[in-house]
Amino acid sequence: MAVTMEKIVSLCKRRGFIFQSSEIYGKLNACYDYGPLGVELKRNVKETWWRAMVYENENIVGLDAAILMHPKVWEASGHVEGFHDPLVDCKNCKQRFREDEIDPEKLAKRQCPVCGAKDALTEPRQFNLMFKTHMGPVEETASQIYLRPETAQGIYVNYKNVMDSSRLKIPFGIAQIGKAFRNEITPGNFLFRTREFEQMEMQYFVKPGEDEEVFEHWKARRMAWYESIGIRKEKLRFHQHGKDELAHYAKKAFDIQYEYPIGWKELEGIHNRTDFDLSRHQEYSGKDMTYFDDVSRERYLPYIIETSAGCDRTLLTVLVDAYDEEQLEKETRTVLRLDPKLAPVKAAVFPLVNRDGMPEIARKITEDLKKEYIVFYDESGAVGRRYRRQDEAGTPFCITVDSQTLQDDTVTIRERDSMKQDRMAMNGLSIELKKRICKSE
Ligand code: GAP
Repeated sequence: MAVTMEKIVSLCKRRGFIFQSSEIYGKLNACYDYGPLGVELKRNVKETWWRAMVYENENIVGLDAAILMHPKVWEASGHVEGFHDPLVDCKNCKQRFREDEIDPEKLAKRQCPVCGAKDALTEPRQFNLMFKTHMGPVEETASQIYLRPETAQGIYVNYKNVMDSSRLKIPFGIAQIGKAFRNEITPGNFLFRTREFEQMEMQYFVKPGEDEEVFEHWKARRMAWYESIGIRKEKLRFHQHGKDELAHYAKKAFDIQYEYPIGWKELEGIHNRTDFDLSRHQEYSGKDMTYFDDVSRERYLPYIIETSAGCDRTLLTVLVDAYDEEQLEKETRTVLRLDPKLAPVKAAVFPLVNRDGMPEIARKITEDLKKEYIVFYDESGAVGRRYRRQDEAGTPFCITVDSQTLQDDTVTIRERDSMKQDRMAMNGLSIELKKRICKSE
């Protein structure tokens, strides 16, 4: 079964994971809204990342910086000067492209990759990807500011505040999850490249000279995290940036790539940013950004190892990786084999039929389980159809109240992937669910 982006888009809309932004007005390109299941899945992705990065590391703390920052931040960071993509237009079909994404042979002939016209591409223009806006009531006199294109800078400008207030000593890390905005020239492929997205970034401050070892450590840790959320190992790989690919701030960079339906692409970047950012902020702000090591009595600018993941891109990866179509005897079953800890709904509860007191018992089970898990009660339609709906939503467990329940207080619990059903006592459900969800942790 080949998963396509179209299948994912269609399932996401059908089941309420993701909708196109402003759909009734003909949509806003490259922006998406998360529906009831999508928002839960996204919360679970973020929660799992936060737990792995902040709660499980004594020397990593969290931050939530403002999206709007002083415009000088983006001068210091190099984004005003260097955050450009080379833009070319086809004079024939009027389409627009990033020059660096055009096949080199076609580019040499200035040939349009879509309509094929030769000598049709304009000279490249440098296009800054930052969204601009104004702060203050009168546009002409107000200062021009930017919507942040990465969350990282909020961490760098706060590093001393965080370090001093939390009494941290190098090495330590600061983690942040938040929105970023890029006026991408070629957005597309659903959530893969959008203009508004969320990043999950961690900046680790180290002594120069210790950066290489720490880089290798985080490279391995980040790869292990993707496997821990159920992504298939064979679909993940590292890609080292060549000299021509390195961002202006990086000495060394590796991407974690995933094999999407559109090919191997970046999922997360791990960068050795050296002291580039802190030295630039020191220069532009005139504030001392050095660290004083009170044991060795040395003063230095820390190096930064960055792990930068896209939340929406992770969510897309999780969906693509989990999507399956299974051929059964009489039908094809679409199933999202989501890791139970990420699944938006942990269990669905059904009365087999809507009589003999079964709905009342099923509702009581739902109410009890709701205190701990997101559960969903459903009594509409044939039970087989209810199972299928939950399979598509990625719900790992379905609990059914049937006629035997009326006699001995047992229910069936059906596992999504194997469709295997076990019978168990109703009053042990909460513990059983915990066991089965934790098994994936
Ligand atoms: N602070 C470093 C930084 O922002 P990046 O490689 O430009 O590095 C990091 O971005 C991650 O953010 C990417 O690996 C990707 O997951 C996500 N990302 C970047 N641009 C994106 C976009 N337009 N849409 C969705 N996710 C994006």
